[in-house]
Amino acid sequence: MTSPSLTSLQEKDRAHHVHPFTNHSDMHSVGSHVLVKGEGCYVVDANGVRLLDGLAGLWCVNVGYSCQPIIDAVHQQMQKLPYYPSFFNSTTEPPVRVAEFLARRAPEGLDHVVFSGSGSEANETALKTIRGYHKIKGNTRKRKILTRTFAYHGVTLATTSMTGLPSCYEPFDLPLEGFIQVPGPYSYGAKTDLDPESYGKWCLEQTAKKIREEGADTIAAIFAEPIQGAGGVIVPPSGYLQELRALAKENDILFVADEVITAFGRLGAWYASGLWDLQPDIITVAKGLTSGYLPLGATILSADIVDTIHSAGYYAHGFTYTGHPTCAAAALANLETIESLGLVEKVRDETGPIFQAALQDLASHPAVSEVRGYGLIGALELIPAGGREALTPTTMLGVKASALVREEGVIVRGIRDLIALAPPLIITPAEIKDLFDGVRRGLDRLWK
Ligand SMILES: Cc1ncc(COP(=O)(O)O)c(C=O)c1O
Repeated sequence: MTSPSLTSLQEKDRAHHVHPFTNHSDMHSVGSHVLVKGEGCYVVDANGVRLLDGLAGLWCVNVGYSCQPIIDAVHQQMQKLPYYPSFFNSTTEPPVRVAEFLARRAPEGLDHVVFSGSGSEANETALKTIRGYHKIKGNTRKRKILTRTFAYHGVTLATTSMTGLPSCYEPFDLPLEGFIQVPGPYSYGAKTDLDPESYGKWCLEQTAKKIREEGADTIAAIFAEPIQGAGGVIVPPSGYLQELRALAKENDILFVADEVITAFGRLGAWYASGLWDLQPDIITVAKGLTSGYLPLGATILSADIVDTIHSAGYYAHGFTYTGHPTCAAAALANLETIESLGLVEKVRDETGPIFQAALQDLASHPAVSEVRGYGLIGALELIPAGGREALTPTTMLGVKASALVREEGVIVRGIRDLIALAPPLIITPAEIKDLFDGVRRGLDRLWK
């Protein structure tokens, strides 16, 4: 098959392809960016331009592109048995082995895994399982779900309803009834005089107040990303997450840690829940589970939830692709690669600290007004020459900066007036330097 020319591909893209989270007229005015190849931390576009991927695809390509063990595992599984469902009494080997791996690394007591195809489906599975759990327990009033402003939990009707970003839910007249937002600990965005710790305490007071107002007996669960990713890399102030977890426990509210971004080494731990000793009732994962090579989500359940659900006999939930053997084979090879390369420890002890130091170095750049980060994730809040007061809902400095940084050979994510970074976990110290050199050059141009 001859490869169509770039222009012709872009024309077909314009004619037929609807992109996620994209302003199509803006995109079509410049033409869609076509990527053709990936190697290590780099991707190559259709014009042959090599870009250092500072966002690991979409916060997910943890082992980098061109990971041979994953490619081989997928190839072999495809040849042996590409697909068979795990409905009813059947299974294949890969999902069993991935479930065992996830349970082995998870906080104690989180031993059972329901597979799905994405982070949204992992959270949707958690939501449905929680409803079933409370129904079996006779807690029929426990239906409401608490989430936080600036949270991102997915794009289905229910997971959009849990997302705390108006740009995601307003166009669809969401949230659905019963989804309640409490303030997330984004002190910079709140433009508060309180320091981050005091603002975190205020958020907890508001959460406790909301629980009292609604009635704890009506609230089924709280979902929380340990570090809020797509909302702007919001790192919780010290003590906040533990107190949020304690608040849930005191009120008999299930605690779900959405670790779709934070699991599998990004923060220098297999699960971020362990870093804050959260002992969640449920952990949801996706993205880094396969490093994005194939779609896979997982909902990891506590023994109490699983025993309760099993006590009712039949678990009437599952997708055609639940436990897909080829996706699971990719996950197993990916997890074993993370383990054999010691990537979790490397992020914790070496590359994470180097990355955070380089991020902090940019704090003195005139265009930077706040730096946040942990392990291999970070964000830079940007300001124009007129200072923070000159920011408006349409300045979108993050989006402008990310375009300039890309021209400098580095991919970062622009969100409102900030840029977010989350490179592959295989990134070397030299590549971290190249990453931040590119970011600095882009910010210099933004500032001019
Ligand atoms: C924390 C979190 N949860 C859930 C999701 C949804 O995952 P997916 O896009 O795979 O449905 C995302 C995606 O970015 C996420 O960051």
